[in-house]
Amino acid sequence: MRHFLDIRDVSPDALRAMLDSAHAMKAARTGRPRGASDDERALEGRVVALVFEKPSTRTRVSFDVGTRQLGGQTLVLNGGEIHLGKGESVADTARVLSRMVDMIMIRTFSEETLHELAAHATVPVINGLTDRSHPCQVMADVMTYEEHRGTIAGRKVVWLGDGNNVCASVIQAAGQFGFDFTFSGPEALDPDPEDIAFARARGATVTIERDPVKAVEGADLVMTDTWLSMHDAPEERERRHALLAPYQVNAALMAHARPDALFMHCLPAHRGEEVTDEVMDGPQSVVFDEAENRLHAQKAVMRWCLEV
Ligand code: CP
Ligand code: NVA
Repeated sequence: MRHFLDIRDVSPDALRAMLDSAHAMKAARTGRPRGASDDERALEGRVVALVFEKPSTRTRVSFDVGTRQLGGQTLVLNGGEIHLGKGESVADTARVLSRMVDMIMIRTFSEETLHELAAHATVPVINGLTDRSHPCQVMADVMTYEEHRGTIAGRKVVWLGDGNNVCASVIQAAGQFGFDFTFSGPEALDPDPEDIAFARARGATVTIERDPVKAVEGADLVMTDTWLSMHDAPEERERRHALLAPYQVNAALMAHARPDALFMHCLPAHRGEEVTDEVMDGPQSVVFDEAENRLHAQKAVMRWCLEV
């Protein structure tokens, strides 16, 4: 059975095949209404449970619409409304859902919940974000880079700010897709050394550069994310903002990257904090392509999971 839990768990060949399929499905939809079914109704007769323990706009809409385009149906389950880990073990919820649905996508807090669900489910489980990683986002990001600039292998990707869950998946992707990765942020918010070790073991160059100007020199892609994630305590806001302020992505910083560098942000963005309006709305920004590509990339992920 195929779960999609993290980018590091899936072979580079399988990841490549998923992105090829995502590009093809996107191309095939040209000119069709958003809600129209694809010609290949791969999920016909299947039900996908979408479990959310945190808020979501993109993940919710992209999995829901993607499933429908493939002919399947969804069931959206909000954490507070089901017995998940509270009142019933995660393992028992996994066993029950597996009797009635064909696949489970979950957005949750701890990685342990995701892994416990996957260990006890008899249907594929997809990681729709945990405190630790966000693999579906980064599949869409690599797809977006390829769409605009061709292969990402050998390119310089720079992450500014918090070494968080999205950053973790980007570093894993550096190992799997063969790009060079530079992190620039405060030491207190460094990425997980396990991900860095994984990427290096796969032959990727991973650099930590505290000076944001030096970090973005020669960058092909500049990425950032919110300074306070959904799993961070609100009381952390002030401390994090003080630490992260030097890493804001603004036009002055982008000027040090390659002139054709792209800018990405998984969204939601806090405009005026980690990124300025000028960059978000500027010609190098592909943030809304990334958002759209969640749909196409995740359709490919779901088809891979079910081998359809
Ligand atoms: N990027 C992303 O996962 O967005 P949502 O939180 O809106 O799902
Ligand atoms: N790092 C952010 C990503 C949101 C999609 C968070 O976890 O809140």
